[in-house]
Amino acid sequence: MNKTKQQAAGGTDAEIAVSARNVTMDFGAPIPAVDNASFDVEKGSFLTILGPSGSGKTTLLRMIAGFQTPTSGTITIGGKPVDAAPAHRRSVGMVFQKLALFPHMTAAENVAFPLKMRRVNPADIPGKVETFLNLVKLDGYADRRPHELSGGQQQRVAIARALVFEPELLLLDEPLAALDRKLREEMQLEFRRIQKELGVTTINVTHDQREALVVSDDIIVMDNGKIQQHAKPVGLYRAPNNLFVAGFIGISTFMDGVATNEGIKIGNDMLIGTLTKGVKAGETARGAVRAEQIRIAPSSDALGSLDMMLEGQVEDVIFEGERLTYVVASDRLPDVKFQIYHHDPHEFDLFEPGAAVSFGWNGRDMKVFPCHPQ
Ligand SMILES: Nc1ncnc2c1ncn2[C@@H]1O[C@H](COP(=O)(O)OP(=O)(O)OP(=O)(O)O)[C@@H](O)[C@H]1O
Ligand SMILES: [Mg+2]
Repeated sequence: MNKTKQQAAGGTDAEIAVSARNVTMDFGAPIPAVDNASFDVEKGSFLTILGPSGSGKTTLLRMIAGFQTPTSGTITIGGKPVDAAPAHRRSVGMVFQKLALFPHMTAAENVAFPLKMRRVNPADIPGKVETFLNLVKLDGYADRRPHELSGGQQQRVAIARALVFEPELLLLDEPLAALDRKLREEMQLEFRRIQKELGVTTINVTHDQREALVVSDDIIVMDNGKIQQHAKPVGLYRAPNNLFVAGFIGISTFMDGVATNEGIKIGNDMLIGTLTKGVKAGETARGAVRAEQIRIAPSSDALGSLDMMLEGQVEDVIFEGERLTYVVASDRLPDVKFQIYHHDPHEFDLFEPGAAVSFGWNGRDMKVFPCHPQ
């Protein structure tokens, strides 16, 4: 077998399942739908492509699936170029946002379908169908038709159907987008469990940053057809590459000014922060500090020691269940509304709108990005 190996950063040999090199899809619009994308997906790993609507996620997934031929660049699966072989000849399972279960077939018949297409020995089919219905926890539902199943159960039939022929690669295009939040979060964990259990290389598309952080080994963030960052979830969260990623993942307060070696200067006011790569002192810049990295207290004494402290007034209190968000204004920075999380439920009545507060952060937590486009 032709296996692609690559020296991973840690020095170990990682086997590469999918590889994209300089892949562009140009539909003739002012900017390409996918612009010069290059990445590798390690065998057995779970990659999420995350980005806003129109950023090129589905187009990229369709090219990997072989439904669309790139304008330029190459994609290989298991070392072989993706070609136009009919879907049932390729070892790729797919689940789409819009379910494509056969309405007149039972759950078991739906799951059996790809096996029949692949001319699996009919004697082996019932056992495989049962195994995969069990895997998605639908034992007992084999004889139901799609309209007799809930949305989440239908999704699980679709997953079983995509996995039953034991593909090398599983492609998921927002299959959970239509589900309610609780079910979606349950299914995210299910996906992860099933993926790890089978060890199938998975590429998942979503615009839900939480889903991406929860389920993935690696995340690619896309915007305007371009890969903005390719990193592990924690790395992406801690060290966004640029303003787009900083704004897309988590909640941050942004402030415009001029970069200095100590942080960012807004008018005559110095705000302590850390310059990211690509920005130099003296350049126009934007500082970003995450809502959970700003501390808030009734007075500066109660705040403890922080590199940067401000006085302000609470303008709004937004209750979100497991946390509160305070919106805080400071006379020193009239153009900025700080968003500050508060997580202790015993203190949820601490501040009301109008309350005078102290707040601040440490220098490493306010990142100063260049303002020019990447
Ligand atoms: N067949 C096509 N012909 C022309 N333009 C297309 C075609 N498919 C997609 N596009 C354009 O390419 C861009 C990327 O589309 P794509 O469907 O990949 O986005 P997406 O990230 O999946 O968005 P969403 O989250 O809304 O599904 C969009 O501007 C879209 O209008
Ligand atoms: Mg899409």
